[in-house]
Amino acid sequence: MPSARIVGTGAYVPERLLTNADLEKLVDTSDEWIVERTGIKERRIAGASQASSDLAYAAAQKALKQAHLKPKDIDLVIVATCTPDMAFPSTACFLQDRLGIKRAGAFDINAACSGFVYGLHLASSLIRTEAHKRILLVGAEVLSRVTDWQDRTTCVLFGDGAGAVIIEGTKEKRGIISTHIQADGGLGELIMLPGGGTRTPCSKEMLIKKLQYIKMKGNETFKVAVRTLEELAARTIEDSGLDPSQLSLLIPHQANLRIIQATAKRLNLPEEKVFVNIEKYGNTSAASIPIALDEALHAGRVKDGEYVLLEAFGGGLTWASALLKW
Ligand code: ACO
Repeated sequence: MPSARIVGTGAYVPERLLTNADLEKLVDTSDEWIVERTGIKERRIAGASQASSDLAYAAAQKALKQAHLKPKDIDLVIVATCTPDMAFPSTACFLQDRLGIKRAGAFDINAACSGFVYGLHLASSLIRTEAHKRILLVGAEVLSRVTDWQDRTTCVLFGDGAGAVIIEGTKEKRGIISTHIQADGGLGELIMLPGGGTRTPCSKEMLIKKLQYIKMKGNETFKVAVRTLEELAARTIEDSGLDPSQLSLLIPHQANLRIIQATAKRLNLPEEKVFVNIEKYGNTSAASIPIALDEALHAGRVKDGEYVLLEAFGGGLTWASALLKW
């Protein structure tokens, strides 16, 4: 059985910056509160005409270029998103068409902020069983469209962006070493976007109640996130027979700097072994890890043969990890 390996990465964030100072004009908040509680200084906001597949397209093009591949080399397109262009066609189908990929399957997956790592779990299995040769996996979100800009408990947290990877088989003993995914649907009410689906379809009443926006019990979510991510990260490393000191870089989902620091502390990882870019983008949900991975690679923070741990937590609730040997 071949291993599955990431052979190209790309990221895209929209041009428009929204700083904490800008948010101070919208809601009763302060730069000091946001930085201290979350680590976020600014985030990117998609233009009025940009949907998730547009961001995904820009990131995918960069990943293809970096891997020296053409769209025709891809035989499966997976987009992880909780903010699709529309219910259907899938965002992956829009992306496939835009890239001009003719013979490939295309579908979306939704595990909220854990979506990209869930996607790695799926894609690496499909590559290892040789069901597919080369998979384009993209995490893409336009969370600004489902954010209530009058709700200070959520609007300071989120941003828009996309990150893409290309995964193919290798006979070498490296690549995606292991993946773990988990969920607890019983805690789903902690973060949800209740309106617009078949439970509560779009209606005047739904709009008055603002159910088309993200609702989050932040503090309760925070506690579950810290506990589950600490456990998951430690278990992923133990299961692979490694010691945390052998890890070269932790690339966590960028939801809250304090959650990231708690996981790093549990693994006894020094600051330089933890990748953080939350200050620039906020929480971009499924896009956060592939954007961070792309930036880490460009910054020379990941070298051949090094172990990298990805871990994410999000709505569902869902959480997931992937251990890579680069
Ligand atoms: N500015 C100023 N004050 C604020 C703001 C704000 N933007 N937001 C909340 N507050 C106030 C609250 O009203 C509260 O005031 P009170 O004590 O008078 O009631 C106080 O600050 C503390 O609020 P908490 O919610 O307890 O603050 P906490 O330290 O938990 O930080 C935060 C909130 C940043 C949301 C944190 O809980 C968090 O990051 N949670 C996890 C988020 C997460 O990981 N989500 C998962 C992914 S999301 C997805 O899947 C789409």
